[in-house]
Amino acid sequence: MKIAILPGDGIGTEIVAEAVKVLKVLDLSFEMEEAKVGGAAYEAHGHPLPESTLKLAQAADAVLFGAVGDWKYDTLDRPLRPEQAILGLRKHLGLFANFRPAICYEQLVGASSLKPELIAGLDILIIRELTGDIYFGQPRGRRTAVDGHFPGAEEAFDTMRYSRPEIERIAHVAFQAARKRAGGKGGKVTSVDKANVLETFQFWKDVVTAVHAEYPDVALDHMYVDNAAMQLVKAPKNFDVIVTGNMFGDILSDEASMLTGSIGMLPSASLNAKNQGLYEPSHGSAPDIAGKGVANPLATILSAAMMLRFSLQQPEAADRIESAVKSVLASGYRTPDIWSEGTQKVGAREMGDAVVTA
Ligand code: NAI
Ligand code: MG
Repeated sequence: MKIAILPGDGIGTEIVAEAVKVLKVLDLSFEMEEAKVGGAAYEAHGHPLPESTLKLAQAADAVLFGAVGDWKYDTLDRPLRPEQAILGLRKHLGLFANFRPAICYEQLVGASSLKPELIAGLDILIIRELTGDIYFGQPRGRRTAVDGHFPGAEEAFDTMRYSRPEIERIAHVAFQAARKRAGGKGGKVTSVDKANVLETFQFWKDVVTAVHAEYPDVALDHMYVDNAAMQLVKAPKNFDVIVTGNMFGDILSDEASMLTGSIGMLPSASLNAKNQGLYEPSHGSAPDIAGKGVANPLATILSAAMMLRFSLQQPEAADRIESAVKSVLASGYRTPDIWSEGTQKVGAREMGDAVVTA
């Protein structure tokens, strides 16, 4: 088994180093090979996703990714910006299913901005479609308007689109995940759409409903995205599995991260049809705290656990990591993003060391 290690930019390098330390102490037989990606790759090779990095990722059984991006690259042409690297990896590896579990660890109930009773025991899963929707739809661009409210004015446009097979495969993933979480039978999927105003999402709703016929034991409900945004902070525990498109999933999963205490706690897995996966924290490169050694490495360490479970068939090792994280939190270690009165403030490296020891 081979893991491609792509730390990227900003805090990416700091947090991936901690996850690699944790992987090494497990003493499993896999190879790890590191490559540059994002701004770091642009500096070294003139491109955010060099051919060599893409080849390494394609040949690997799994990719552990940090984060890419920095404000200093904002003036580059879009194809050269660091963020293109992650979009390119998703596209070239066919990573269409993004899993973002939002779990509130007992020890962090107080770190969330929400009332403890709302989030204690929270364990929901957001499944975001990753390769379609308005992020990839063509045509897109800028032009002079020929109609609309201001004919003759400069305007910009994007295209929202989904095909039936794209929706079907993500719906299957969601129903199967719900079943698995329920122990093999049952569970609930909430499909989030905007069917009331968008044709793309009326189609989404119709296709998900059709796929549901194959999963009679799993409950299905539909919710508009604006209501879902509200319900996530009103009664998040009413959800089980949420499945939605690329853009709604992007936004709702950041919102859900706050239920867990910090975006620094939220891991993610992006899988393709061959169970090859890319594993990364849900956050970005955090340029505001990069280089200070204070980033929370737990989202990345928990992403490594998801990698062991989903792509490397090492569920026991994944369990070991997750229970080590729980015990480190129970001992009171906190990076600043999850710190509260009476706990011990530590940096990224001390947090990683504590997980290794545990
Ligand atoms: P961000 O997620 O990097 O940061 C948002 C806020 O959360 C910041 O205040 C940051 O300090 C904090 N934060 C994030 N991760 C943290 C951690 N592990 N521990 C403690 N605090 C943490 O999002 P932002 O600021 O919108 O974007 C920064 C850069 O990252 C941009 O260039 C953006 O394009 C890029 N980005 C990259 C992603 C990726 O590589 N997959 C995803 C999201 C953003
Ligand atoms: Mg996002």
